[in-house]
Amino acid sequence: MGDKTPAISRRVAEIPPFYVMDIVRRAQRLEAAGRDVIHLEVGEPDFATPPDVLAAGTAALAMGRTRYTESQGLPELRRAIATRYQQTQGVQVDPDRIQVTAGASGALLLATAVSLDPGEGLLMADPGYPCNPWFAKTVGASVHRLTTTVATAFHPTRMQCEAEATEHDRALLLAHPANPTGLAVPSRALVEMLAWCTETQRTAIVDEIYFDLLFNPGHPGSLHFGSAHWVIGSFSKTFNMTGWRLGWAIVPEGAVEATTKLAQHLFISPPSVAQYAALGCFTEDTARLVRQRRAELAARRDQLVPALKALGFAVPVFPDGAFYVFADACRWTSDSRAWCLEILDATGVAMTPGVDFSDRLSPTWIRIAYTQPWDRLEDALNRLAGVLR
Ligand SMILES: Cc1ncc(COP(=O)(O)O)c(C=O)c1O
Repeated sequence: MGDKTPAISRRVAEIPPFYVMDIVRRAQRLEAAGRDVIHLEVGEPDFATPPDVLAAGTAALAMGRTRYTESQGLPELRRAIATRYQQTQGVQVDPDRIQVTAGASGALLLATAVSLDPGEGLLMADPGYPCNPWFAKTVGASVHRLTTTVATAFHPTRMQCEAEATEHDRALLLAHPANPTGLAVPSRALVEMLAWCTETQRTAIVDEIYFDLLFNPGHPGSLHFGSAHWVIGSFSKTFNMTGWRLGWAIVPEGAVEATTKLAQHLFISPPSVAQYAALGCFTEDTARLVRQRRAELAARRDQLVPALKALGFAVPVFPDGAFYVFADACRWTSDSRAWCLEILDATGVAMTPGVDFSDRLSPTWIRIAYTQPWDRLEDALNRLAGVLR
């Protein structure tokens, strides 16, 4: 007993390591040894959960609202999400199409599981969010990465989809704006790719979890261009609720019943206390706080990008939002993974190597998350200047 090696499915065995964890581990070791580390590696802003959310969550706990909820999510929460789309984007969303989930992660898993059969392919941009392939592979689907470049803001195009998609590729995943680039999908490309999906009877899934962190108008949400696709949302980043694990999917009409059925079996219900807490996202005070924080992130971007360029990083496309800069460090390295570790050791500045986001992009890229107040970012820039100049 006890010495038998547990079975690991091939699906799981083939998952590569998350290289940023090397950085996180090294950073923790340095901190344990008394070094001051500036964390620009993790995709989680420095802001706290808004007070109205904390108050709503605390009240829910005090009232014992800790039981399962409706599988689709609390009706009042789904109505509030729909109303917010109307108020912020001017689009109508039927609350019955909203499935509340454990983070956008839960929504991405449901969207891929509902849309794809084993053996079918999911098209997605390279570079892209490192977890995306594993939602598809977990349900037996394959991943078809579309290599993108600066020329298309690191997003695929309809022409590329037409040229590269095979008959097996039955769904296309876009991120608007994307991680690691912070770049929105240009409207024309978005319209054309949604149309291509409709015309070729493929499913489009648009991850808009950073949409509320776009800094300038001029990038309409995908719901302006139709409602036949999935839209993925999250409380994590907009409302600084990463650890509450709450997000949602707007499900295409014909897929609502299938999604609800699967959500019932996989999750029973989304976390109840987090849902009651999230009702605090829709107050005036929280809306003001979200606007202030977005403006703060925009100001950081505006100062950080020119400063990085002055240091010698190439930042060929200016990010539209979120809190990421995707920068090329080719001036110093052809192995950003080793380089990020060296820089961390030398300066105490932690950044994410681009290899986590891309199979095929040159391994000279890195992602910098401006998830620290400006004085810390300035400190990081000074430390980098000390070793890079
Ligand atoms: C593009 C993208 N989608 C989804 C997620 C998952 O977010 P959540 O915390 O809502 O599960 C992340 C997290 O960083 C992300 O960057």
